[in-house]
Amino acid sequence: MRYDFDISVDRRNTSCLKWDYLDSTFGRDDLISMWIADMDFRLPDSILDAICERAGHGVFGYTVIPDSFYRAVETWFANRYGFEIQREWIVTTPGVVPALNFAMQHFTAEGEGVIIQPPVYHPFEESIRNNGRTTVENPLVLRNGRYCIDFDDLDSRAADARMLVICNPHNPVARVWSRDELKGMMDIAEKHDLIVFSDEIHSDIVFRPHRHFPTLLLGDAARSRTIAAYATSKTFNLAGLQLSVIIIADPWLRAGYTSFIRNLHLTGSNIFGIVATQTAYEQGGEWLSQLLSYLWDNYLFVSEYAHEHLSGVRVLEPEGTFLLWLDCRGTGMSDEQLSEFFIHKAGVGMNNGAMFGTGGDGFMRMNIATTRANLGAALECIRDALGERSSETGSTAAVSY
Ligand SMILES: Cc1ncc(COP(=O)(O)O)c(C=O)c1O
Repeated sequence: MRYDFDISVDRRNTSCLKWDYLDSTFGRDDLISMWIADMDFRLPDSILDAICERAGHGVFGYTVIPDSFYRAVETWFANRYGFEIQREWIVTTPGVVPALNFAMQHFTAEGEGVIIQPPVYHPFEESIRNNGRTTVENPLVLRNGRYCIDFDDLDSRAADARMLVICNPHNPVARVWSRDELKGMMDIAEKHDLIVFSDEIHSDIVFRPHRHFPTLLLGDAARSRTIAAYATSKTFNLAGLQLSVIIIADPWLRAGYTSFIRNLHLTGSNIFGIVATQTAYEQGGEWLSQLLSYLWDNYLFVSEYAHEHLSGVRVLEPEGTFLLWLDCRGTGMSDEQLSEFFIHKAGVGMNNGAMFGTGGDGFMRMNIATTRANLGAALECIRDALGERSSETGSTAAVSY
């Protein structure tokens, strides 16, 4: 069956953060929304039907996760990643960021260092700060248009830390870490006895020839210290149903983690999250492969358009995620000017690179999980605004990359 990702769904007035809260986020509500990481696409009917069927039952009391859910998770991971997980390794939480917070609260003490690799998904830093832990930065290095890990720096910083947070695929720079890169990080984690929180929420959105390599597949050393976080929320646009799949192979780590969650009385799960996640893993494979090809074509569309029409804007080739990292340093605009420009001149709501921390200045994050028509409209707005700006200022700055 062919799925049509060009069908536009009006998301306004559905209490959706992406389109209904533009005003509180950007100060105006007439923008084309390309910020927060969810998709504008409708789910495949198989998932919708399963949710509707469950809703039709009409009783939504306390619920236990059924065996069929665990089987669906196990099969998905085995088929996609060759990752044989055991049922007891699977823990559910109402989100990946909550899962990170639980891990930090249980396995680290106040003031201890938690390493992140900026520019990176900003709730990592917020969680560290909110929990009274210390942020330790191991900034990524941009080399020839591709971000890399500075392993020497990571090694020296790990001495002051208790936890390493890996983001793979990486939001916002869209790298998919290779087995060797993960191994390099894990060796350092082992040397300094760090707990590793491996956020793999974007693992299913990976473009060929890249492949997602689960951190837990690195072997015993990784298993003994890693909490890995997955979800269908990005892959199948289910963030509003709040269910994440946390994999913890090590019995000691798992016992600590689950007792922490039990103490919070978080043992139940959202009924619709269970039904949707199970059905997505059982029946969503074909929809996902068509989604990936649509997203890749969206990337090519933006990249070619930028090359031809958006002077000073360079699109980094994504290896995964539906988030493009736009290098706007060539426009010569400061970070504040970029925000002002995209909101008030172009009318496009994107995440400003600076919010992702060190190394984010001069970049913008564009969510391309939308129809090509919407994307085209946004690009035209940006082109026209850049055109007006260059006629006002005389030129765009040139930067050698
Ligand atoms: C890397 C990463 N982790 C976690 C999340 C959010 O996860 P959740 O909504 O399950 O807390 C996002 C959402 O954009 C993300 O990009």
